[in-house]
Amino acid sequence: MKAYKLKDNIYWVGAIDWNLRNFHGYITPRGSTYNAYLLIDEKVTLIDNVKYYLFDEMLARISDIIDPHKIDIIVQNHIEMDHSSGLPQLMKIIPEAKIYTNASAIKGLKLHYHQDWNFQEIKSGDSINIGKNDLTFLTTPMVHWPDNQVTYCPQEKLLFSNDAFGQHIASNERVESDFPLDIVLEEAKKYYANIVLPYSKQVQKVMEAVSSLEINMIAPSHGLIWTEHLPEILNAYNLWSNNITDNQKALVIYDTMWKSTEIIAYAIAQAFENKGIKAKLQNLQLTHISDIMTEVMDAKYICVGSPTINSSILPTVAAFMSYLQCLAPKDRIGLAFGSYGWSGQSVPMLHKMLGDDSGCGFKMLEPVKVQFIPDEEILNQIRENLERQLDNM
Ligand code: FEO
Repeated sequence: MKAYKLKDNIYWVGAIDWNLRNFHGYITPRGSTYNAYLLIDEKVTLIDNVKYYLFDEMLARISDIIDPHKIDIIVQNHIEMDHSSGLPQLMKIIPEAKIYTNASAIKGLKLHYHQDWNFQEIKSGDSINIGKNDLTFLTTPMVHWPDNQVTYCPQEKLLFSNDAFGQHIASNERVESDFPLDIVLEEAKKYYANIVLPYSKQVQKVMEAVSSLEINMIAPSHGLIWTEHLPEILNAYNLWSNNITDNQKALVIYDTMWKSTEIIAYAIAQAFENKGIKAKLQNLQLTHISDIMTEVMDAKYICVGSPTINSSILPTVAAFMSYLQCLAPKDRIGLAFGSYGWSGQSVPMLHKMLGDDSGCGFKMLEPVKVQFIPDEEILNQIRENLERQLDNM
């Protein structure tokens, strides 16, 4: 296991999780990495950490450069267990090492591992000198947990950004310039949609803080390291955190029982197309909710359909709505649709979930509700009615 040299005396020493396919409900078909960074300076410093079952891999990569016993300082930018569960094994090797992190992280680490390690509490804006280099800490609460922080090395213009700017990609390549950029950006978008989206306001604060720093490399805690395409990822984070959507993009998300709701979904998609708006159909039986969330990131129109079943909506649609409400995209236009047999609760339920402030708070189009199977006349009415509303927007 080899370390990867990023700059003079700065190495990637993380671990590659080739087999990760699910990250708390978010599917990760490309796997992931847990990135840790070793700074060889007067004080040998390790920034971030790995998941417990890949600890030996990190240790081997550190040993490729230096005896791990020589590590003086650990900077723990985040306590979520993908970045901290290797820490107990590391602390058995270097029990005297100082762990620099913020008060929220110290509290959280104690509640996770119940150890009284040598914690050194930092506050946002604090700096330490490790020899030739300084490290400045900026707390970034809720990007993605209350304890998140980033670490900046001004001499190297290097930002260790932890969860921000990450992507779930396992690869032999370490920097984004050695990997297809469209895939890195797509995975960064999926990561933002499924991990960071509810905290967009906090991301804007991070972007503000970052804009005052000179940066030529961003080293996140997952995936590829940004070396050449910083403007692209910073621009994308600006768009995503400001809820900038494409007025010409609609999503028609649904599940169906006897195909009536699917027939309505196609009629809705046709109406959008007739008005020059690209509509993507997303069948919840076939498309995972975490992939749909990636599409939600830039879609202006979010249409959700379910037939009525047992006075409610289908479980797949309920799961999606719960996920959508929690990830909380803003400033979208919603539409509820579906078929029913006799009672017809699904569409009003979806209309409320999408439109109410206690739900998604979207501006709503008129709901579409059809008893049993729509004929061509009903489908024409659905298309004409939606097209008329789109004309008036
Ligand atoms: Fe990659 Fe919030 O942990």
